[in-house]
Amino acid sequence: MKRIGILTSGGDCQALNAAMRGVVKGLANSGDELEIFGFYDGYKGLIYGNYRSLAAQDFSGILTMGGTILGTSRQPYKLMRVPDRDGLDKVEAMKHTYYKLNLDCLVILGGNGTQKTANLLREEGLNVIFLPKTIDNDIYGTDITFGFQSALNIATNTIDCIHTTAASHNRVFIVEIMGHKVGWLPLHAGIAGGADIILIPEIPYDIDKVVEAIDNRTEREKGFTILAVAEGAISQEKAMLTKKEFKIFKSQVGYPSVSYEVADQIAQKTGREVRVTVPGHMQRGGSPCAYDRVLCTQLGAAAAQAIEDKDYGNMIAMIDGQTARVPLGEVAGKLKTIDPNCQLIQEAKKVGICFGD
Ligand code: F6P
Repeated sequence: MKRIGILTSGGDCQALNAAMRGVVKGLANSGDELEIFGFYDGYKGLIYGNYRSLAAQDFSGILTMGGTILGTSRQPYKLMRVPDRDGLDKVEAMKHTYYKLNLDCLVILGGNGTQKTANLLREEGLNVIFLPKTIDNDIYGTDITFGFQSALNIATNTIDCIHTTAASHNRVFIVEIMGHKVGWLPLHAGIAGGADIILIPEIPYDIDKVVEAIDNRTEREKGFTILAVAEGAISQEKAMLTKKEFKIFKSQVGYPSVSYEVADQIAQKTGREVRVTVPGHMQRGGSPCAYDRVLCTQLGAAAAQAIEDKDYGNMIAMIDGQTARVPLGEVAGKLKTIDPNCQLIQEAKKVGICFGD
């Protein structure tokens, strides 16, 4: 008999259900009797003992379903050691639920913050297995996270749609793509959508270089320009500010996001019409793409095998096309950012894409 807890935490993405299905199907096929406890709304369910006993069949028929059947919430890692409003010690509460249910293992699906808490629980002595999800693809120690390819399809499709209207009107268009700290999604969507300019957090931009790229296109009688701008794109001047100074600056400016500021600057410097499109949370919605379904089936099956082997404390990663067990202690708290000199950026520059540097 195996007693498994499972939860999804942090921002949702496509394929969370597909990954849970993979884990449960893998375990169910091992022949062992199985008891599954699904915690609602991420760590919140584990803290406050809000869970449901689920059967393997409950994870059937969810391969193509977006969102998460367990619900999710953001429970910041930095507040985990801070008691809640009623003075409850959250870490002790999570351990209490785990031991009360006599779990063999807790399967945790999430992004960077979730991973840090998973590692904290491991350090506290719980058996955990972590699966890397996020549309941002910024989890260190795995080549790819699930959700990324599905979101990439949506972001690319958005740029495709904008392309036709931008061309008809000879406008400059900015498509703002998710990614606060890292630019994997805007970089890939920008290239796939044929954007002319891509601005990502890893390469602070000079607005004059951006304007120069637009002017060059105008000179070549290209009437429109598409910019793929990361949520976290930052100018070279602002990249010099300390975190505190940047926060003060952000609270003073009246733009809803960086794209609107860039749009204003371009309009002022070129006299061109500029429009901004923000697909926002659409990028995390809908069904997982085929790639993510396959990825999650593999990661889920590999997680089930790790549980069978009692090899806990690992993230189930994808490295060079193979699933792998990566010790959480080696990766938690690290971020996978883009090297500005990597081959992909160099090749994108070679075909004329401007990064504002
Ligand atoms: O981490 C995934 C992500 O979608 C980021 O790309 C984005 O910046 C953030 O979550 C949005 O968070 P929320 O859903 O809390 O608005």
